[in-house]
Amino acid sequence: MKHLLKLADLSTEEIYGILNLADQLKYERKNHIPHPHLAGKKLGMIFTKSSTRTRVSFAAGMTELGGTSEFLSDRDIQLGRGEPIKDTARVLSRYLDGIMIRTFKQSDVEDFAKNGSIPVINGLTDYCHPCQVLADLMTVREYKGSLKGLKLCFVGDGNNMANSLIVGGIKTGMEVSIACPDAYRPDAQIVQWAKENGKLTVTSDIREGAADADVMYTDVWASMGQEAEKAEREKAFRGYCIDAELMKIAKPDAMVLHCLPVHRGEEITDEVFEAHAEEIFDEAENRLHAQKAVLVKLLK
Ligand code: CP
Ligand code: NVA
Repeated sequence: MKHLLKLADLSTEEIYGILNLADQLKYERKNHIPHPHLAGKKLGMIFTKSSTRTRVSFAAGMTELGGTSEFLSDRDIQLGRGEPIKDTARVLSRYLDGIMIRTFKQSDVEDFAKNGSIPVINGLTDYCHPCQVLADLMTVREYKGSLKGLKLCFVGDGNNMANSLIVGGIKTGMEVSIACPDAYRPDAQIVQWAKENGKLTVTSDIREGAADADVMYTDVWASMGQEAEKAEREKAFRGYCIDAELMKIAKPDAMVLHCLPVHRGEEITDEVFEAHAEEIFDEAENRLHAQKAVLVKLLK
């Protein structure tokens, strides 16, 4: 494993290797056992979109591993004024030991990896969000004991989260269902791959999608960069909401996850969100542990 550009690049063994190390790092942190695996290492973090969790968990994670991090907003670095990715990659590779990028185009992250000489971590693109899903898998395993054979239902937009959940779920032996409007289905190539490699259903019927699910998952109707489509999306997604009624169709002990930030009253009711807040904020915490594992695997 040289980079984390998308989960499709990882084998099932590599995914479990990250999850196991994440569990170990979480245990060490909880018990105040130092784990300075990246002493002296430097991570750059390029953001062309907003972030709370990704930014702070990567920065805190590098500190806990004995390294340092540098926040690079596109408003401040020359990339935002048009310096090409390929030049930025070649320059930053001379200073840093690794780079995390949150941006719009998946091809920008891939171009950075191609032109630079340091590990690249995808901190979210329009196409996928691998770091989030590693934390999600870690959280499901904590609560349910194992992943294989569980059913995960994602309700809402066939967006970056849906794409990564399909890949991560199928690679770990879960059954995945995506309940979304027909016009907002996940990436067609990912859907095809998933159908060839595991059990995936894509349906516009949320009740069909949620039936007997072990894990219910949702995300915002309008992602970063889609602000102009807000009104249109509110119309298209009305009803694609995890509420108490839908939870009755899932398994009685189903857990609920959300990558956050949440729009209460849109993709999930306040009632269901708060009833599952413990799981959802454990999931947010696990970003830290899962990403520390990724950092150790790539930068050590
Ligand atoms: N879930 C997630 O990636 O959160 P941020 O946008 O706050 O980083
Ligand atoms: N789909 C959301 C995820 C945020 C973590 C977005 O891209 O804005």
